[in-house]
Formats: sequence, C-alpha cells, structure tokens
Amino acid sequence: MNRLVVEGLHAGYGAVTVLRDVNLEVREGELVALLGMNGNGKSTLLNCIMGFVRPTSGRVLLEWEGETIELSRSAAHETTRRGVAYVPEGRRLAPNLTVEENLMLAGGSGRGKAKLKENLGFCYEMFPILDERRRQLSSTLSGGQQQMLAIARALMTSPRIMVVDEPSVGLAPIVVEQVISTIRTLQETTNMTILMAEQSFFQAIEVASRAYVLSHGRIIHTFDQKVDPASSEEIRSAMMGIA
Ligand SMILES: Nc1ncnc2c1ncn2[C@@H]1O[C@H](COP(=O)(O)OP(=O)(O)O)[C@@H](O)[C@H]1O
Ligand SMILES: [Mg+2]
Repeated sequence: MNRLVVEGLHAGYGAVTVLRDVNLEVREGELVALLGMNGNGKSTLLNCIMGFVRPTSGRVLLEWEGETIELSRSAAHETTRRGVAYVPEGRRLAPNLTVEENLMLAGGSGRGKAKLKENLGFCYEMFPILDERRRQLSSTLSGGQQQMLAIARALMTSPRIMVVDEPSVGLAPIVVEQVISTIRTLQETTNMTILMAEQSFFQAIEVASRAYVLSHGRIIHTFDQKVDPASSEEIRSAMMGIA
C-alpha cells in the first residue's frame, strides 16, 4: 500500500518541545485533515514531513511503489523530488510574477518538467479563473484565487502527495468553503493524496476521508472514517480547549 507514515515523532525548536509522540498515516487517495487551533503544532508537523524541521526522535516515511524513503532524514528539495508537494501557510507566491510565471517556475524543473505542458493544461482546466488571469500578477489576485494558484503551483510538480497548510487562513468564510471544496474536488477527480492542516473544523471534516486532532503537540483524537458532524461537537470543544 502506498502511504506516508509518521511514527513516534517528537520535534521542537531549541529547548522547546512542540510535538510529542505523533503517529499518523495518509494512504494513497485519501484526504486527511489535521485539525488544531493556532499554535498547537500543525505547521511544525508539516515542516517535519517536508524536511524543514528535523525531528528530535521518531521518523517520517514515504512508502511508495515498493520503496521506503525516510523523509525525516532527507533535505527539503529531496522530499519535493520524491513527490511530496507543499502548499505553505500564507501561500508565499512570487508577487511580481504572473499567474503563469508562478506555475512555470514550479513546473519548469524537477519532477514536473517532463509533463510541463500537460500539467499547465490540467491546472487551467481545474482552475478556470487562473486560465482567465494567466497574464495577471499574482499579487493582484483575490485571497481565494491566490490560494488556488498556490495549490496549482504544487500540482505543477507532478506530486504523489500534497501537504497543504491551512488553506483557509485569512479568507472570508464563503471563500473558505470554496477553497476547501476545491481541494475535495481535486482529491475526487484525480485521486490525489492530500494531508491538509486546518482549524476550520466543520469545513474540513465535511470533506476529509479521515481526520486527526492535534492539541498541545499531541494527537488527542483520531477519526478513523468519515466524520459525522453531529457526533463531533465534543471533540471540537476539546480541540478548542473548551472541554
Ligand atoms: N521557528 C520557530 N521557533 C520557535 N518556536 C516556534 C517556531 N515556529 C513555531 N514555534 C512555536 O511552536 C508552537 C507550534 O506552532 P505551529 O507549529 O506553527 O502551530 P500551528 O501551525 O498549529 O499554528 C507554537 O508555540 C509556536 O510559537
Ligand atoms: Mg500553522
């Protein structure tokens, strides 16, 4: 089975421990939500997966097509080369490049290079608004459109897995719904494997195949199947520190 696995992960910054014994997996074709409020370690976990933060113990494995790669020992560029694409919190687009230049820059080297034209065509098909605005500077797009571009940019690298950090950050509620439903459509139509960190609990569980709840750097709850919103209020309260 193709999957990404996090095993017994501890990580932090200097003397500060952020993640404590985190275990999770993302199987091929799943959209897994990593839920948690601000400051609970979501980005730190995604950064460990990407190779930007080194765990103090535990490991991150990519088990794919019969090969096992230890991502927690790989440099970030190696992680990307192995097919794990990152959509960072806050999008981090190149503001003075056009939509198309942003996409070409991501797809023009590395894994996506051989499929550059095909991937670009696919991105425009998937996000018609980006097609319409391909000559526009990315800084002039709306927040929701910028998030679409950040997702499309990751698709340009022909990924096996997409790691998406809080796509809803800074967006109006209606746009949050749109962006999250776009991520679901992407997973449904392409069978893309996605790990998505979110604090918009109800929007995320509505689309997720499964979910984990991170609180103070620990997984406090695992939803092993599609989440029933009616039965999850208690867990949402725990996540928010209300319980
Ligand atoms: N580069 C850093 N240096 C020191 N502490 C950090 C750094 N990045 C995050 N932290 C701390 O780690 C904790 C978890 O942060 P983060 O992983 O960004 O959580 P989340 O993404 O869930 O908001 C917070 O207490 C935050 O202040
Ligand atoms: Mg974060």
